[in-house]
Amino acid sequence: MNPKQLSEFFCFLSGENPDLARFELESIILSQGKKIFLEATNDTRIVNIRMQKTMKSVEELYYIQNLIKRATLVHCCCKAYFQVEYKDNQLNDFERLVDSFKSDYIPKLNPSSSFCVRTRRIRNPEGILKQSQITQEITNYFGSKILEQYPSKKVNLKNPEEIYRVIVSKNGLWFGLHVFDSLRKIVRKRTARNRPFFHPSSMNPILQRTLVNLTAIKEGQWLLDPFCGTGGALLEGSRLGFKCVGIEIDRRIVWGAIRNLKSDVETKRLTNLIFGDALHLGFKLGAISAVVTDPPYGTAASTQGYDLSDLLLRFFQEAKAILPPQSRLVISIPSTVDLEDRAAEILNASYRAFHQYVHRSLTRKILVFTLLN
Ligand SMILES: C[S@@+](CC[C@H](N)C(=O)[O-])C[C@H]1O[C@@H](n2cnc3c(N)ncnc32)[C@H](O)[C@@H]1O
Repeated sequence: MNPKQLSEFFCFLSGENPDLARFELESIILSQGKKIFLEATNDTRIVNIRMQKTMKSVEELYYIQNLIKRATLVHCCCKAYFQVEYKDNQLNDFERLVDSFKSDYIPKLNPSSSFCVRTRRIRNPEGILKQSQITQEITNYFGSKILEQYPSKKVNLKNPEEIYRVIVSKNGLWFGLHVFDSLRKIVRKRTARNRPFFHPSSMNPILQRTLVNLTAIKEGQWLLDPFCGTGGALLEGSRLGFKCVGIEIDRRIVWGAIRNLKSDVETKRLTNLIFGDALHLGFKLGAISAVVTDPPYGTAASTQGYDLSDLLLRFFQEAKAILPPQSRLVISIPSTVDLEDRAAEILNASYRAFHQYVHRSLTRKILVFTLLN
C-alpha cells in the first residue's frame, strides 16, 4: 500500500455512470478553457483534480466552484488531505488501514471552528473491513486525529462549520475537507412535471443538463436543440448562461414550450423557439456552435412518419452543413438503434458513446460527436 502524493482536490462522482460523469467534467473544463487537470484514480467514482501551480487558493476555489456548480453527475468536491489506493483484498482489517496514516496528513486547520467527519462507503468493500465496523471506526479515527492536533475544535454533528469527508471503497480511501456540493439535488427538483406544460416525452433535467454540458459550448455561443419538444434542453442550457434556440414541428408542443420558457424567470431572455422542421435547418455555417438533442423515438414522441434511423441520418446531413469544425453534436437515442458509425461518417466526426439505463424497456445511448477539421 503506497500512499500517493496528494492531489489538490478530489470529486466524488455519482454511481450511475462514472465514465459519463468524468467525461462531463472534462467537457465543462474544455468549455471554460481553464487549466484544470483531471486524473483518474483506481476507483472509478473518484477523480482527482489538479490546478495550475500559479493560481492563488481563492482563484482555485472559484474555478473549482464554477466547475462543480455546472456538473450534474458529481456529488461533491473535497480539498484532498490524504489518499491511499490499494488492490482488492490487500487490506483486511482496520489496524492495517490506520497503519498507513502515520504521515502527518492533517494540514493546518482553523483551530476553533466546529466540525464533523462523514464517512461514505462506495459499494461494499467486502473482505476488507466488516460493514458494521467501517463507517463508525473510520469516522471516529479521523475525528480523534483532528481533535488530537486541535483540541479546541468542537464536534458538531448537526450544523458544523467544516465537514471532513472520508470516502472508502475496495480500491482505496480518500480524506479531505468538503468544499462544494454540486447543484444536482436542486436540478433534480426541476422535474418536467412541475412545468406549466408537461409531455411524457420530456427528459429528466439531470440528464438534460448533462447533455448540455457534454456539448462543451462556450459562453456567448449559440446552442441548438432541433427536436426541442417542451424545451427541457433550452431551459437547462439557458440556466447555464448559453444562448439557446429550439426547433419543434408540432404546433401544440411549440405553444407548450413557450409557456414553459416564459414561466421560467431565469431563462426567458436567452431562449428562442422556431416552429419548424429539423430537416430544414437553414442556419448559416458557424451561426450555431453546438447541437444537443433528444429526438423522438416514435413512442412517446412522434417521428412524423419517418423511420427513426432515416430521420436521424437525414438530420445529420443537415447538421453537417451548419456546424463548424471542432463543434460537438450530442444526441441521446435508444441503445437498440445502431447508427453511430454512419453518423460519424456523415458528420466527419469522432465520437464517444455512453449507455444510460432509464427503465426496464429503455436504455439510452448518449452519443457525443466532435466534428473534425
Ligand atoms: C423526445 S421529444 C423532445 C423532448 C425534449 N427534450 C423535452 O424535454 O421536452 C422530441 C420532439 O421532436 C419533435 N419532432 C419530431 N419530428 C420533428 C422534426 N422533423 N423537426 C422538429 N421537431 C420534430 C416531436 O414533436 C417531439 O416533441
